[in-house]
Amino acid sequence: MSNINIAIDGPAGAGKSTIAKMVSAKLGFIYVDTGALYRTVALYITENNIADEDIEKSLPSADVSLGFADGAQRVFLGDRDVSDLIRTPEISMAASRTSAIPAVRAYLFETQQKIARENNIIMDGRDIGTVVLPNADVKIFLTASAEERANRRYKELAEKPDCPTYQEILDDIIKRDYQDMHREIAPLKQAEDAVLVDTTNLDLEGSANEIIRIIKEKTNVQCD
Ligand code: DC
Repeated sequence: MSNINIAIDGPAGAGKSTIAKMVSAKLGFIYVDTGALYRTVALYITENNIADEDIEKSLPSADVSLGFADGAQRVFLGDRDVSDLIRTPEISMAASRTSAIPAVRAYLFETQQKIARENNIIMDGRDIGTVVLPNADVKIFLTASAEERANRRYKELAEKPDCPTYQEILDDIIKRDYQDMHREIAPLKQAEDAVLVDTTNLDLEGSANEIIRIIKEKTNVQCD
């Protein structure tokens, strides 16, 4: 029997990764966060000060890979685990720019397809249902209003030093949405056969349950 592939796309801050992790744990699937791959390429470019015109030819030396420890995804540059380093606002913005470069998307395409061929996975990103896994068994487009997404992010960061203001977070989300939706290659958009899940008024548990309901309806996956 072939592996089951579930694609979850949507804008930044819709809760994709948290919800996809909860659902994969319940189903016993591997969760693949493709944004982390784009972030890792962005880190590589930033750390090595690679000029735009040199990005394509530098990619074969980047050596970006995925690993899993205790069920959690880790990303590597060579043998260096950079999973925590890629979570800064600077790398978020750089990843959004980097992901608009066709050569970068081509470079990461096969990495994503290979892991989906070999495992039961839930993969989240922006173009999973439209480009990377057009034949996915289930496609979800997960979204929430920009204000609600900013609100969630603000609550997450509020305890940390140098927390940006709510308005800064909202501006950042709107800017990233725009960049992700208007790039020429593989822009963020809902696949025709994707099911829309709007989490503006749902909590995490409610969102995960809704996705599990859709997966059960469309596949013969069992879970309690
Ligand atoms: O999901 P994230 O915020 O970690 O993603 C970082 C950036 O990478 C985001 O601005 C869009 C881009 N991205 C993409 O273009 N395609 C994907 N499949 C995943 C992420």
